[in-house]
Amino acid sequence: MMDSGKGRVTRREFVKGTAAMMAASGGGAALFASPGWAGSATAGQEQARRVIIDTDPGVDDALALLLAMRSPELKIEGITPVAGNVPLELTLPNALRLVEIAGRSDIPVAAGARGPLVRRLVTATYAHGENGLGGAVFPDPTTKPIDEPAAEFIRRIVRKYPGEVSLITLGPLTNIATALNLDPELAGMIRGLTMMGGSLSGGNITPAAEFNIYVDPEAARIVFQSGIPLTMVGLDVTRKTSLTDEHVRVLQAAQNPVSQAAAKIGRNAIDHTRERGYLVGPNMHDSLAVAGFLDLSLLKLEPFYVDVETNGELTAGATLGYSPVAGDLRRKPGMEKNAAALNMPIRGAAPTLASRKTSPVLRETWTPNVQVAVDVDARRFFDLLIGRLAGKT
Ligand code: BDR
Ligand code: CA
Repeated sequence: MMDSGKGRVTRREFVKGTAAMMAASGGGAALFASPGWAGSATAGQEQARRVIIDTDPGVDDALALLLAMRSPELKIEGITPVAGNVPLELTLPNALRLVEIAGRSDIPVAAGARGPLVRRLVTATYAHGENGLGGAVFPDPTTKPIDEPAAEFIRRIVRKYPGEVSLITLGPLTNIATALNLDPELAGMIRGLTMMGGSLSGGNITPAAEFNIYVDPEAARIVFQSGIPLTMVGLDVTRKTSLTDEHVRVLQAAQNPVSQAAAKIGRNAIDHTRERGYLVGPNMHDSLAVAGFLDLSLLKLEPFYVDVETNGELTAGATLGYSPVAGDLRRKPGMEKNAAALNMPIRGAAPTLASRKTSPVLRETWTPNVQVAVDVDARRFFDLLIGRLAGKT
């Protein structure tokens, strides 16, 4: 399904590979440790993998970026801030600050979209503070962004290394959708995309939607339907990644600029979360996406056909996961071997009387477009995250 090194996964290989794995697993739940989607992660055994990180720092984005910049498995071609947790006027300098803290001013930072494709920006300052870093203050950056917009940068780098560049997205998908809109051939040249975004088990900003998808559902829909091999690291697993006081103590004890910055951001974020009345958290959503890209074995993945609700007045940004279990779209324990519904159609809402549509069927057969993380080894995740930030691994 996936050639090694520089190879790319074509749409046909993606579908074929998934079908083969479904068959091998009896059509049911499967633990995917194949490098096809998020990529394999055996440090030191492979060439560093080219990635672009799209992000809206963001407390958990900050730790995710520091993790990525401390990971020799990654060749970070660029960082593309987008409006999300806070406006671009803050996510851009925050990204530049983090690059400086990590001593990685060699990484190009390209300014992205100021707002979603067709909606007004909704931010998450309630969770990330007014400055996006949970109130943790760092000096103004002296590094400047490159003189190229994020979407054009993404397009140029992907075209420069066709089939080699993976995207890791930690915010709303506006920049990626804009790049795909600019260049219809681009999706076929992207090696894979690992996103923090979405949920098959309810949202965090509305009952239906996870924040990153909620902010720009139209962009998310473009990405989900693009044919890029997708790995979705959503709330289903990131809810299990609560940062603790002990993690912060370990970071504080490690005397290096990255661990000190991470400890400061983490301390503020924990305090802020407690002040809001939560006993646990904050969750390290975005770091888990980076960690999952680095080491796929941290996650249990299952293939789904996922689409995004863009019309709902209450449900826009919901990610709907279709899975092949006859008569029931949600897999249940004991139903793992039921492959009977591999050919089930994908249904949407019943057509209204006013519409010209007569059938709710959107697609005739079930074809997975996403590997969805359904479980995580949280202890190993934190070993990786805290270990790397503390400079121990
Ligand atoms: C996601 O939303 C943002 O607030 C976080 O940074 C993360 O990317 C979690 O829903
Ligand atoms: Ca984020």
